[in-house]
Amino acid sequence: MTSSIKNVVVVGASGNLGKEVVEELIKANFNVTAFTRENSTSTFPPNVTVKKVNYQSVESLTTALEGQDAVVSTIATVAIGSQTALVDAALAAKVKRFIPSEFGVNTRILGDTAIGTILQGKVKTLDYINGKSQENPWFTWTGISSGLFFDWGLKYGTNGFNKDTKTAVIYDSGNEPVQASNLAFVGKAIVAILSQPDKTANQYLTIASFNPSQNQILEIVEAETGEKWKVDHASTAEQEKIGLEKLSKGDYSAFSNLLRRRVYADGANHAVKGDKNAATTLGLQEEDLAATVKAWLHN
Ligand SMILES: NC(=O)c1ccc[n+]([C@@H]2O[C@H](COP(=O)([O-])OP(=O)(O)OC[C@H]3O[C@@H](n4cnc5c(N)ncnc54)[C@H](OP(=O)(O)O)[C@@H]3O)[C@@H](O)[C@H]2O)c1
Repeated sequence: MTSSIKNVVVVGASGNLGKEVVEELIKANFNVTAFTRENSTSTFPPNVTVKKVNYQSVESLTTALEGQDAVVSTIATVAIGSQTALVDAALAAKVKRFIPSEFGVNTRILGDTAIGTILQGKVKTLDYINGKSQENPWFTWTGISSGLFFDWGLKYGTNGFNKDTKTAVIYDSGNEPVQASNLAFVGKAIVAILSQPDKTANQYLTIASFNPSQNQILEIVEAETGEKWKVDHASTAEQEKIGLEKLSKGDYSAFSNLLRRRVYADGANHAVKGDKNAATTLGLQEEDLAATVKAWLHN
């Protein structure tokens, strides 16, 4: 049984996801410490303890982790490999729960795929954590697959919708339901996970704010703007082809192409609904798709 979790370190707390996670943890009255690189210029809210750390040094990370109950890593994709030292330090400092920087597709079911090759850093990190947990049963972990970052994707145009030009790219039929989470929802799920440590120990959880199809989003933006948007149709088979070509040249920007194939292809079947949505079984409500899309349109 894991005793209650109160003191939480957020690694990469200044990032896209990290900021929102910190905000939700503070709202839920956790004591939050942010880890940031020694040379970083990131800034943090006043009620957060900030520690500058060297991710290469297990010894200094161990000192920085003393007295902490949980580590939530939202570290940047490029730094996924740095988490091994963090795990070793968390073990040495007797931290009870480690949440690694996953937060995308379910990396436990990738098998021998091209996208699995790109995400192997995440897969290996979680395998490493799981091995340590088996050797040290008091050391527990939770993995979180959130699907696409939905509000972030609208803001940065990564999901194919552009409100300035009123254009959209729709892949395949556009009818496939897609696992997607707003950033604050991921933060709320982390709060729920850390508040229910026994129920969530050594579990890989899939969560979603909702599972919209591209056509559902298109319907909302057209109704709200009162205009037909210009739609370009594209094929996920073609995206896969481009992705594989890039990957064969060692170009990891292949990820976006391969991701489109994985999530938008007709019959992809990666939606997270009903009992598969751990967020709702932990007490969260699914979110309102139209409200999220409208908030983006009018921002
Ligand atoms: N599902 C999705 O659609 C989606 C989209 C984007 C990302 N993700 C995933 O979500 C997780 C977090 O991504 P994010 O976009 O929130 O991260 P991010 O904003 O790119 O980076 C988070 C923080 O990591 C630190 N950092 C940056 N480079 C580093 C380095 N080389 N070494 C150590 N620390 C470094 C920085 O903090 P300091 O400057 O304070 O040190 C940065 O603010 C990742 O696992 C990523 O793959 C998912």
